[in-house]
Amino acid sequence: MRVLVTGGAGFIGSHVVTALGEHGHEAVVFDVRDDPGADVRDPAAVRHALAGVDAVCHQAAMVGLGDGVADAAEYVSHNDLGTAVLLAAMAEAGVRRLVLAGSMVVYGEGRYECRRHGVVRPGPRAVTDLDAGRFEPPCPVCGAALAPGLVGEDAPADPRNVYATTKLTQEHLAAAWARCTGGSAVSLRYHNVYGPGMPRDTPYAGVASFFRSALARGEAPRVFEDGRQRRDFVHVRDVAAANVAALEASSPAGVLTAYNTGSGDPHTVGEMARALATAHGGPEPVVTGEYRLGDVRHITADSSRLRDGLGWKPEVSFEEGMAEFARAGMRRGV
Ligand SMILES: NC(=O)c1ccc[n+]([C@@H]2O[C@H](COP(=O)([O-])OP(=O)(O)OC[C@H]3O[C@@H](n4cnc5c(N)ncnc54)[C@H](O)[C@@H]3O)[C@@H](O)[C@H]2O)c1
Ligand SMILES: [Zn+2]
Repeated sequence: MRVLVTGGAGFIGSHVVTALGEHGHEAVVFDVRDDPGADVRDPAAVRHALAGVDAVCHQAAMVGLGDGVADAAEYVSHNDLGTAVLLAAMAEAGVRRLVLAGSMVVYGEGRYECRRHGVVRPGPRAVTDLDAGRFEPPCPVCGAALAPGLVGEDAPADPRNVYATTKLTQEHLAAAWARCTGGSAVSLRYHNVYGPGMPRDTPYAGVASFFRSALARGEAPRVFEDGRQRRDFVHVRDVAAANVAALEASSPAGVLTAYNTGSGDPHTVGEMARALATAHGGPEPVVTGEYRLGDVRHITADSSRLRDGLGWKPEVSFEEGMAEFARAGMRRGV
């Protein structure tokens, strides 16, 4: 298969390119980082790149939490205008297979249960609570403590920041494209991806990158909130393998199918910082109590649909992956 990999020079995209090669496919990289002319928002450039292509693996995006709302137009431009231009060109070129880099950020807060009220959906956390160090979102009905659980694909969308909104819109656009063209669209909703080649020293990378960058400078990882917020850290090689599985599968035509893409082995951010610091040989993490307004408390995945539907399973354990990442190379952020 000949696969156009947008964002193929990025952290995840470059691992996808490698994995495609290992499976006997030909990857065509389309990334503005490599070539200023390779911008997904440029219809002529995209049309040209699609020649002879069987499928598109759409990784290109502006990532990270960004600047609140000041850079909203940039996010919408790269992520949503870019996706729209790509999809229109695919429709014209007759390319009917799309795998999209989705994200768990579409869910907002993860799944919570109240002992009295069952599954509930806590809204954004109040600044007064965060300032007072009350990080756990309470039951929106009775205010009781909640038990966090695993989020499934059918959970309602609830994007909490500009980036999350653009990731959700990408899915809606891809679903509309699938309906109009009879194509098949898959969104792999990645959880917290980490591993070799992660960009360093940039506010746009994930929390594992912040900690790893601090350790490389000889500084202690600074853990926000109380360190007990839960995430699903999934290794970049496992994410690349999920992309290959999704590209090779015959997915339902005319619709978008979403798959959570997580390790299924949730850990707290504090545990992650300790695992990295230990493998790096120190310094030990410090818990600061700081917070970021757009962050959610817990978000962990039920990835059984991906395991059952596409026969994928994660190969890299948390312990192995973090030990490797503590020593692995990172690259300069943009
Ligand atoms: N890293 C994570 O934990 C994570 C989690 C969920 C989803 N994702 C998604 O995975 C994808 C890849 O993210 P990443 O972590 O590898 O980030 P990255 O920044 O390393 O890679 C993104 C690549 O897209 C390219 N790009 C951006 N705008 C472009 C444009 N207009 N035209 C062409 N290329 C463009 C960039 O040059 C970059 O190389 C993104 O869609 C992101 O939203 C990442
Ligand atoms: Zn309740």
